[in-house]
This record gives sequence, C-alpha cells and structure tokens, in this order.
Amino acid sequence: MIESPRQFVLFVDNVYRLIDMTTLNETIQINRPAREVFQYVADFATCVEWDSTAIETARLDDQPVGVGTRYKVVCEAPFGNLPLEYEIVEFEPDHKVVLVGRGRFFEVQDTILVTPTDTGCELDYTAEFTWKPMLKRFAASIEPGLKRMGYASVQKGLKAALDDEYEAPEISGENARADRFVPTALMRFTKRGYKRGAKKLFNPMSRYMGDKHVVLTGATAGLGKASAEFLAYRGAKLTLVVRSREKGQALVKELKARTGNKNIALEIADLSLMADVDKVVASLTKKGDPIDVLINNAGALFNPREVTSEGLEQSFALLLLSPYRLTEALKPLLKKAADANGEARVINVVSGGMYSQKLRVWDLQSEQDDKYSGSVAYARCKRALMIKTEQWAEDWADDDIVVNAMHPGWADTPGVESSLPEFHKLTRLVLRSAEEGADTINWMAVASEAGQISGKLFLDREPRTTHLTSSTRESDESREELREILDNWDNTEASDKAA
Ligand SMILES: NC(=O)c1ccc[n+]([C@@H]2O[C@H](COP(=O)([O-])OP(=O)(O)OC[C@H]3O[C@@H](n4cnc5c(N)ncnc54)[C@H](OP(=O)(O)O)[C@@H]3O)[C@@H](O)[C@H]2O)c1
Repeated sequence: MIESPRQFVLFVDNVYRLIDMTTLNETIQINRPAREVFQYVADFATCVEWDSTAIETARLDDQPVGVGTRYKVVCEAPFGNLPLEYEIVEFEPDHKVVLVGRGRFFEVQDTILVTPTDTGCELDYTAEFTWKPMLKRFAASIEPGLKRMGYASVQKGLKAALDDEYEAPEISGENARADRFVPTALMRFTKRGYKRGAKKLFNPMSRYMGDKHVVLTGATAGLGKASAEFLAYRGAKLTLVVRSREKGQALVKELKARTGNKNIALEIADLSLMADVDKVVASLTKKGDPIDVLINNAGALFNPREVTSEGLEQSFALLLLSPYRLTEALKPLLKKAADANGEARVINVVSGGMYSQKLRVWDLQSEQDDKYSGSVAYARCKRALMIKTEQWAEDWADDDIVVNAMHPGWADTPGVESSLPEFHKLTRLVLRSAEEGADTINWMAVASEAGQISGKLFLDREPRTTHLTSSTRESDESREELREILDNWDNTEASDKAA
C-alpha cells in the first residue's frame, strides 16, 4: 500500500531498478531476394548507411563476415558520442545473424532474421538492451527515445536502403558555388571536402554485386587496392589487371582470406604497352564473361619524359591510349552485360590536375614543349580521357553502357608519395585516405542510381564541372580530332612485337 509521496517515489525507483532490459522489435517487407538483403545487412559495416544514430563504422579484424567478425560502431547519443564494439556470435548464411554490442552503459544483442516471402523477403530486427547498473534507473525514461531510434533505423533507414530507389544526383548549390573559384574548389579535394560530402549527400548502397563482374586496372596499390577490397567484400566477381604477377598473386591471396570472396581472377599486363593491353583483351574475350563494370584506374606520373619499348611517351601510353584501347576493345563484353542486366558501366579515373590544362590534340605525346613536365603531361592526358568519357557516353547511350569519370581529390597513396614528394609532405595532414579517395569509384560501381547518369565527372558522388576556368575549354574541332586520332591509331609496331 502506498501511503505517502515518498513511498510512491521509492516504489517508482524500485520499479526502475528492476528494468535491466529493454527490447525493440521491428519488421519490414522487402521486394528483393533474401540472399541480397542478407548480404547487405549481415555485414555490419553498412550500418552507418542506415542506422539513425551510427556516425562511423570500422572493421576490427581482417576476416570474412561470419562468427567472430568484430566492428567498431560510433553512435551519436544525447550525452555525446558512444563507441560500441560489436561481434557476430551467430551466423546462418542468407537467414540469421546475431551480433552482441558492448558499450559503456549497456550491452545489446541484435538478432536479424531474413525469411523469404512470395514477393521477396521479410526482415525481422530485434535489439535487446541490457543496462549496466549505473543506467538501470534511467532505463524506463530512455525507452521511448530508444524505440523512436529503432523505428527510424529499421522502418525508415534500413527499409529505404533496401528499397534502393535513390535518384541520380545533381550538383548541389553549395558545390556549384565552390566550383566558381579555384581556391574553394581545391578545398573540396581535401579530407575535409570528403567529410563534408559524406555527411550530407551519401545514400546507402545496397545493390547486390554477387552477380556482377568488375574489371579493375591498377589494383595493387592506392585507390585501386582500396576499391578491390571494397568490391570483394560486396561479393563482386573481380578481374584485377596488374603488371606484377607476384604482387597480384599476393593481393588475391590477401583479398580472398580477408573477404571470403573466392571469385577473384588476375590478368597480367603492363598497361603502358599496347601489346599487353591487346593480350588482356584477347584473354577476357576468350573467357567471354560479360563485364558489368570496367574501372580504368591504373596510372602514374612520369618524370623525366620517357618512352615505352613500343616508342610511345609513357603518360600518353598509360593514361590515355591504354584505357582508350582497353575500353573500345572490351565494348562487346560490356554490351553483353548490358543486354543481360540492362546496363554496364565504365569508370575512368581522371584527376583534378586536368583543371589546369587544355587539350593539346596536336601534341598528345608532349614532344613540343621546350621543357617536359610530368605533371603537365599527366594533366593533359587526364583532360583527354575526360573528353573521351563524354564522347563514349554519347556514342554508347543506345547500348545501355554508361561512361563516367571521377577524380578522387587528393588522396594519400604510394603513387602520390613517390611521384610528388614535396606536395605529399606539404599536404600530408589534409590528404584523404586511399579509402576516402576510392569512395566515389566504389559508389559509381555499386550504387543503383549511378547507373542512371552518363558522361559526367564526379567528385564525392556528385557530378562536378569539368572546367574551373574558361581557359581550358577545347573547341569542338579539337574534340573531333582527338576522336579521330585515337580511332585511327596505328599500333602495327606494337602488334608486331606482340606476335
Ligand atoms: N592519389 C591521388 O590523390 C590521385 C589524384 C588524382 C588522380 N589519381 C588517379 O588515381 C589513379 C590511382 O592512383 P593512386 O594514387 O592510387 O596511384 P598508386 O598508388 O601509384 O597506384 C597505381 C596503380 O596503378 C598501377 N600501375 C601503374 N603503372 C602501371 C602499368 N604500366 N601497368 C599496369 N598497372 C600500372 C600500379 O601498379 P604497381 O603496384 O605495380 O605499381 C598501382 O596498382 C590513377 O589513375 C591516378 O592518376 C590519384
């Protein structure tokens, strides 16, 4: 019997003390196969894309998704950021994953069940919070907020992520304004620029990659390696084109062990040699696997000027002629994928350096300047590849092949450190990580909405201007001349050497 206000307070306090567990449960229906939904949700690294409180996730170990996989998740809470360490404790492929998360104030067990239905599948999400003694008394008052968070994360965040109906992005007003001035545009190349984009613009990427074949050049270091790892985790069938067999084999071994993806093949080619490009094309054509995504990423900056054993200037050979030749020759396999799956994608990795240069169609091999500069030659080739991207996009529109370019901003990679040591030293603190630099490549390969747009240059998943100043704009005649030069390139000498 409660006979005084004080007794009432004690009663409520005791009730609160008894609450040491809070359970949330949400169920959603998704019009997609259980396998696709499970693959996305079971890898808890994706929770930052849909959980309403998660602001950061990281894998804590190098192993495939399964029992024992651990993640760090940082959640926003009213009293500050809350780091949690999650571990998968039960894993039934395509059906059930159970994770235990441990933090300062509570332990939480998340049970995710995916069950096939007539129209796709049902996802049932239960989170059971066990409060630590210091928080037990507040558990009842926290519960309503927690339920709102659970609803927002599953019914809104996860449902929208899995429905995957995002629209193709347009440039934001803020970035369009930034691109009007070179210094503000360059600020976006930094780590800060990436964080700015990530926070505001990034949609989840739940498209299933298990049935997609991605060909990626330059996978042994920097951005290419970061992309290879991301795509391997997403289950894509990968063909990595690398020039060193040893490095390539070590990479495949590492990726297979780390991600559990067994579908990783190698093609060996020095891509600055057209004979090697032709060999890769012949090998892929013989295998006949449709190519859903071709990523032309391999690149380097050459100082001093050098020519290849085929007599071509290195930058021109590797950064322009090689991706041109590879892409043109692989078009039948891209088309095969487009016919089967409704689309194929080409991603050309260019560079913000191209903003400083205009196309010099009469001097593609940097022979006519008094003094050769590797950075200038590099930037001109990237400019030309951007123009080629626009031409392909137009020419192949009816083939359902989208062709886009991206630039990564400034990312801390072995290539930048070795070819631009002074720049690297000066900008070290503001450089993006390789993963941040590769993020837009990954988005262009995976995101559904990235397949709806063609002929654009992307930075941080947003189409951006291809010219910061009018002085770099080329004429229509020069563009056509570039097309003709590349289309009519006579590589007899190289082909003879290859024979
Ligand atoms: N990092 C940046 O800030 C930045 C900025 C703008 C544009 N980019 C562009 O991003 C792409 C990746 O650059 P990154 O910074 O990641 O460079 P990176 O660390 O040097 O990696 C370059 C990759 O390309 C490969 N490669 C180089 N020459 C090759 C050849 N002749 N044949 C076959 N493969 C070759 C390298 O293989 P090895 O391991 O055998 O050397 C390596 O896997 C490049 O196209 C670059 O121009 C980068």
